[in-house]
Amino acid sequence: MMTTLSVNVNAIAMLRNRRDLPWPDLESLARIALEAGASGITVHPRPDQRHIRLTDVPQLSTLISRSFPKAEYNIEGYPSEAFLDLVCRIRPDQVTLVPDDPAQPTSDHGWAFETAAELLAPVVGRLKAEGMRVSLFADPDPAGYEIVPQLGADRIELYTGPYGATHSDPDARDAELSRLSLAGRRAQALGLGVNAGHDLTVPNLPPLIAELPFLAEVSIGHALTADALEHGMAGAVRRFLGALSGSEA
Ligand code: PXP
Repeated sequence: MMTTLSVNVNAIAMLRNRRDLPWPDLESLARIALEAGASGITVHPRPDQRHIRLTDVPQLSTLISRSFPKAEYNIEGYPSEAFLDLVCRIRPDQVTLVPDDPAQPTSDHGWAFETAAELLAPVVGRLKAEGMRVSLFADPDPAGYEIVPQLGADRIELYTGPYGATHSDPDARDAELSRLSLAGRRAQALGLGVNAGHDLTVPNLPPLIAELPFLAEVSIGHALTADALEHGMAGAVRRFLGALSGSEA
């Protein structure tokens, strides 16, 4: 099973929003990414629309369904009523629920499943009834993972931020890899699919994939956007796909 690449376009939206101008253009960059071999597009709309705007969400959905019917649309966010109404209207292939406060600059932790079970159970039920795959953002610590299948969720997304932060410390990197591997294997044993995301890069993907070859999907925004400045969007996607297939940069 090959791990698929979903390109998170939030960082591109952030750059666009510096000006009251329509570029860089999300739709055309998403098209380039999908043409270059990415399997999907991820957006993380927030109530203040500081990155993704509400108008971007249906536009990217239309691009995918019209021009890339095999590609997947993944919408991530905190399950507020407004967020749930939005995803039930758009019906992406996958919804990734994150526990972040809307004011946080980026997601930086997974769900505490035991405490959040009461909140998540009806939300997951609603999304599943509408036919969407549900993934829950998770710290690389298997405590509470047994609750995830009981909630009816299909996958977890392992939070790889701490792994990404070890880029210049090989010992710390190995420790984070073991945590991710243990957590991923526990999720797999519970019958869950396993995604991963946050601070994944061309250099840190090959060791991650070697340790967790069963990863279904990685979603990558910041480092891929940075890479695209140097290599172009198509070049960056090809470099990340190369890293996913195990080759070092
Ligand atoms: N997964 C989740 C749940 C996220 O919130 C983000 C950042 O929006 C990512 C993946 C992508 O992280 P990065 O931008 O560091 O690649």
